[in-house]
Amino acid sequence: MPPFLPLTRRDLLTGSALLAGAALLPRVARAAVGEGTAVSLSAGPARANLAGTGFPDTAVWAYDGRIPGPELRFRQGDTARIAFANGLPEATTIHWHGLRVPNAMDGVPGPSQPPVPAGGRFDYEFPLKDAGTFWYHPHVNSGVQVAHGLTGAFIVEEREPIRVDRDLLWLLGDWRLTREAELAGGFGHPMDATHAGRIGNTVTINGAVRDSVPVRAGERVRLRLINAANARVFALDFQGHAPRVIALDGQPVTPHAPADGKVVLGPGQRADLVIDMEGRPGEGFDVVDGFYPRMAYRLTRLTYSAEAPLRDSPLDAPIALAANPLPEPELAGAVRQDVVLDGGMHGAMPKGAGPRGPFWALNGVAAMNHQSMGHHLEPLITVKRGQTQVTAFVNETGWWHPMHLHGFPFRVLSRNGRPAEHREWRDTVLLGPRETAEIAFVAEEAGDWMLHCHVLEHQETGMMAVLRVTA
Ligand code: C2O
Ligand code: CU
Repeated sequence: MPPFLPLTRRDLLTGSALLAGAALLPRVARAAVGEGTAVSLSAGPARANLAGTGFPDTAVWAYDGRIPGPELRFRQGDTARIAFANGLPEATTIHWHGLRVPNAMDGVPGPSQPPVPAGGRFDYEFPLKDAGTFWYHPHVNSGVQVAHGLTGAFIVEEREPIRVDRDLLWLLGDWRLTREAELAGGFGHPMDATHAGRIGNTVTINGAVRDSVPVRAGERVRLRLINAANARVFALDFQGHAPRVIALDGQPVTPHAPADGKVVLGPGQRADLVIDMEGRPGEGFDVVDGFYPRMAYRLTRLTYSAEAPLRDSPLDAPIALAANPLPEPELAGAVRQDVVLDGGMHGAMPKGAGPRGPFWALNGVAAMNHQSMGHHLEPLITVKRGQTQVTAFVNETGWWHPMHLHGFPFRVLSRNGRPAEHREWRDTVLLGPRETAEIAFVAEEAGDWMLHCHVLEHQETGMMAVLRVTA
């Protein structure tokens, strides 16, 4: 990890321009709110300084030339129109992770659309039913394209937002870099694919290693966290602070302190936190990621400006978000279809596994990613539109899997047989080795929807399936 940030940034940290310190955060492209015209977005090769001073730029693939891509911001009830141009040397699509979009706008090659060829264009358009923190990324050759930097935040603002002093976004990226800060090769290597996936060696916040994030005593911050890594799981400890979780995967949840004080985020997952900056002017507090035993490291440090506190006691204002208009599962009439996760190193590998896979299976079926391109995968599960479905994900492997369902946020009903404390809505549920999670959702819209592990190296070596909703 590089030891320093550029001097210019350090200078800023001591200056009184600190809280204009939003200046330290990435420039964001704000979609003009309520405007009827399309936002244009392109993907293509670019260079970016990820690792910091003293390290050369890294050749990446980026949306609009930036890592991460522009923050797309709309308001609930608006229609998003995104005119996409593919400047990559290969085909791609964009998937709007967690958003309830029509099937044809979901970005899955095959069921939703043909892949957008190199040099091609595609217009995405969908109404924004839900407010929250979402993100976008390719759904073609994802392990390679996401690891090259093709990720961005998609924020849908509430019509009546909660009161905070600042709304911050940390899109967490994980890169496997060489000493020269080039992207290391070996994408999809069986050593990654059969184990925990491509875990990197350089963790970025909004596209750069950041040793400090400026804050002011007394302010209330809404922090939107997005795990955009291929495979890394985070468990964030905000030392000296008491964050409250107000949304998970974009969906409001009863505000609560994270279990054991750690905000756990599997690949694909998001969390919105409210943090009151209760330190004193001039203090600093580490944010530590301790997910992997014996590999804890300092993600960044909350650095308090010298300014007098913004207020003497924490802001006295409600932090609960209004629920999104999701259809409530009707458990009494639910159909039940379980999904058993199998495979991986030390596990039951699918029959006929070759040196490149498949290594994983869902209910004994291994679907390799490329089979979703050009023609449809056979559905693993079929359900009628409007039906409530209950599914237990049963992880029979020795590995972590963030299981993601397209199309329909689901409620988490139970974990390992015990009722879930918050019955939270999610689009991605993280399963530890040998864990079980039971979810419920209403199959709202007809079509073929993907169900897959969001460790992209697992997805691409067998851990994906289609859920078909028939009209
Ligand atoms: Cu974010 Cu199918 O994935
Ligand atoms: Cu997995």
